Amino acid sequence: MDITVTVNGEPHRRTVEPRLLLVHLLRDDLGLTGTHWGCDTSNCGTCVVWLDDLPVKSCTVLAVMADGKQVRTVEDLGHGAELDPVQQGFVACHGIQCGFCTPGMLMTARWLLDHDPDPSEDVIREAISGQLCRCTGYENIVRSIRWAAVHPDGEPS
Ligand code: FES
Ligand code: FES
Repeated sequence: MDITVTVNGEPHRRTVEPRLLLVHLLRDDLGLTGTHWGCDTSNCGTCVVWLDDLPVKSCTVLAVMADGKQVRTVEDLGHGAELDPVQQGFVACHGIQCGFCTPGMLMTARWLLDHDPDPSEDVIREAISGQLCRCTGYENIVRSIRWAAVHPDGEPS
């Protein structure tokens, strides 16, 4: 099937098999390996991207379902040395250990803060409840997102 998907502002025309998952279009075809692929069963959430401004697990979305839509991936968060405040928060509060869950966590965190700039710890925990981290115990991830809420413009570089 012929599709056109706009990823991080850039349109891509492709001919794809109907069964191709969005996560594989992003990683294997477009080379955007910042989006991780962890389970394929909709459990881990490391594959979260935005589809038309809503966070989705890209292993549960067919590439053809993104036809004519906008996709935002973790590659679009920071620009060069300039990190998004949520990325800064994960660095400042040690929200990263192995880093495997981090891309999905960052995309959910950015979406949450765009819609609720001052979320409570409970709200943050609920927002990331569809995502697994096997390293941090979540405490530092929650702190990282709170850091970004308190520093909406990040820290001057
Ligand atoms: S790879 Fe998508 S939820 Fe795990
Ligand atoms: S930092 Fe390792 S899975 Fe979250």
